[in-house]
Amino acid sequence: MDVALSGSRPTGKLHMGNYFGAVQNYVKLQEEDFKSFFFIADYHSLTTHPSADYLKPNVREVLIDYLACGLDPEKTAIYIQSDLPETLELFTILNMFANKGELEKVPTFKEKIRQKNQTINAGLLTYPVLMAADILIHRANKVPVGRDQVQHIEMTRNFASRFNQMYKTDFLPEPQPYVFAGEPIKVPGLDGSTKMSKSLGDKNCVYLSDMPEDILKKVKKAKTDGGPETPNSEKPQEVQNLFEIMKLVSDASTYEHFNNAYNNCEIRYGDFKNQIAEDLIAFNKPFRERIADLSKQEDYLKQVTKRGGEQAKESARATLDGVRRIIGIDYY
Ligand code: TRP
Repeated sequence: MDVALSGSRPTGKLHMGNYFGAVQNYVKLQEEDFKSFFFIADYHSLTTHPSADYLKPNVREVLIDYLACGLDPEKTAIYIQSDLPETLELFTILNMFANKGELEKVPTFKEKIRQKNQTINAGLLTYPVLMAADILIHRANKVPVGRDQVQHIEMTRNFASRFNQMYKTDFLPEPQPYVFAGEPIKVPGLDGSTKMSKSLGDKNCVYLSDMPEDILKKVKKAKTDGGPETPNSEKPQEVQNLFEIMKLVSDASTYEHFNNAYNNCEIRYGDFKNQIAEDLIAFNKPFRERIADLSKQEDYLKQVTKRGGEQAKESARATLDGVRRIIGIDYY
């Protein structure tokens, strides 16, 4: 049976860009006939955020938000990476199949080097090896990820294939990124930037947990221009962004109405923004409510991660037993 696995660093609450970009796809994937795993990559976050003050609230928020989006512990083993230390044994072994040179060439690593004031610890260098261990510990062959992670999956394939060649086996699968049908949905930011991103600040993002008044405030402050002066003129980026957001959360007829108003130079940005805010608030409502509900269920959260951790452990043990047998780590 196919095994699917994905993971997310604990970067805290999710926004609409996360939802449309990836999370809704993970949720849909649960309907496929896969054995599936989803984990929160707290070890990976240690490379840049080595403290519990950061990790604790962020692990919790990510967990709650994924559950609120429909990740279902009955269908997916949901666990926290550090609850599965078996990953680290495989990581050690896979390090023997990773070349220093190729790790240094990874764009995300080169980017860290460029950020001058950052200490370059070995964890940053071996980030892709740990990621390969996350995947191969369950012998997963399908990895749903965004485009930015595709190269990491390719490296995972290389490590697996070198292991297989060295030991003349086909025990480790060579996983493929799981690419979803259609164009990936990109959600633009409220500040005129082309991508909704937490690193650009809270003003730019609509979080799934945002309260109606927060959403209204943020949308009202969103960047626009002085308005169109000639019919059918091209929309400036910041206005285009708002239309794209409207397309995701409003009825087609509402979108048409405002698009025509823009093209006739009759649009009133105040009305336009009120409508977007109203539709965003309605779209977010079920998420917000489930998040509020889950936030009160500490025992349930504990139970989900405990059970997910147990399921993950069973699968990981089987892989490690195989790997040890193949290498011959079995002395007395
Ligand atoms: N690197 C991924 C990210 O930043 C998170 C991650 C860690 C991951 N290990 C993984 C994703 C294994 C898929 C599979 O988003």
